[in-house]
Amino acid sequence: MATPGVDPRLPNQPCGVADCENAAEVLFKVSDKQEAWICRSCIPDILKAKSILKNQIHTEGADPRDDPGRPAMIKQEPFHGDPHLQGLVNLLIPEVALFVETGTGAGSSLKWVAEQYPWLLCWSCEAHYPTAKKAQQYTITLNNVHIFDGLSTELLALFQNQMPGLITRRGLFWLDAHSHGFGCTLLEEIEAIQRLWRGGFILIDDFVVPGKPEFGYDVNEDLTIGWDYVKPAIDQSKFRGLWGPNYEARSQDRGWGLIGFGELMDGAVDRLNTMEY
Ligand SMILES: C[S@@+](CC[C@H](N)C(=O)[O-])C[C@H]1O[C@@H](n2cnc3c(N)ncnc32)[C@H](O)[C@@H]1O
Repeated sequence: MATPGVDPRLPNQPCGVADCENAAEVLFKVSDKQEAWICRSCIPDILKAKSILKNQIHTEGADPRDDPGRPAMIKQEPFHGDPHLQGLVNLLIPEVALFVETGTGAGSSLKWVAEQYPWLLCWSCEAHYPTAKKAQQYTITLNNVHIFDGLSTELLALFQNQMPGLITRRGLFWLDAHSHGFGCTLLEEIEAIQRLWRGGFILIDDFVVPGKPEFGYDVNEDLTIGWDYVKPAIDQSKFRGLWGPNYEARSQDRGWGLIGFGELMDGAVDRLNTMEY
């Protein structure tokens, strides 16, 4: 009979990381095509190595905006196919009137949101031109989608200068643009969102989950993306709360952090504290 909490496929073999002699404990998805059985203590090192790879430019010396060696992003499951994270997004949409994403990629999460909520205005930005074009094609039939082909900081400045009507709406901000040669503008994004909008939710992808290294996270110049990283950018006068995954990760799950700020709908914080997602 299987032991509760133990993966029934667990093989009797050592961790797949070179020089590590611990027993294998979890099946880790290294890429879309490769999986490896490794021990839990090697998870942070593998995640860091993956994140450094993700941050490289593919063609030496190329402008990351049209890096010719970079393959176009492939379609993925929306929100990593994580049913808990998808559930959280579904619970947050009724609390807002605008969805903003930084880093469109193939447009997988954007399309998932926009198709389900045709009344919701959805803005996204993608700084790699070939990827932006593909995502625009992929979402072309959705009238509520707008994809800006440029940097996240440029899109946020556009809201301020040219779309003042939209900054009066409560927003859900899915921040997923911290890699692929563009550096990490996460702190600038958080600062601009809190300064411009009166309230909303900032949902950050690739965010370290304390005590749960199985959730993937990004590292920027040796600093792990997580609460300690973003805290200097938080406007304490607007801060309404921080939430993270309270469930067990599957091997492909990525960590996330949710920050509530400013004026929210009545009871929103209580609803989030008691929600099951
Ligand atoms: C992981 S993918 C996005 C996936 C997408 N958010 C989803 O959930 O389906 C990250 C994308 O962000 C883009 N990116 C990185 N930094 C950026 C920046 N500062 N501004 C705009 N796009 C950026 C990358 O080119 C890459 O295509």
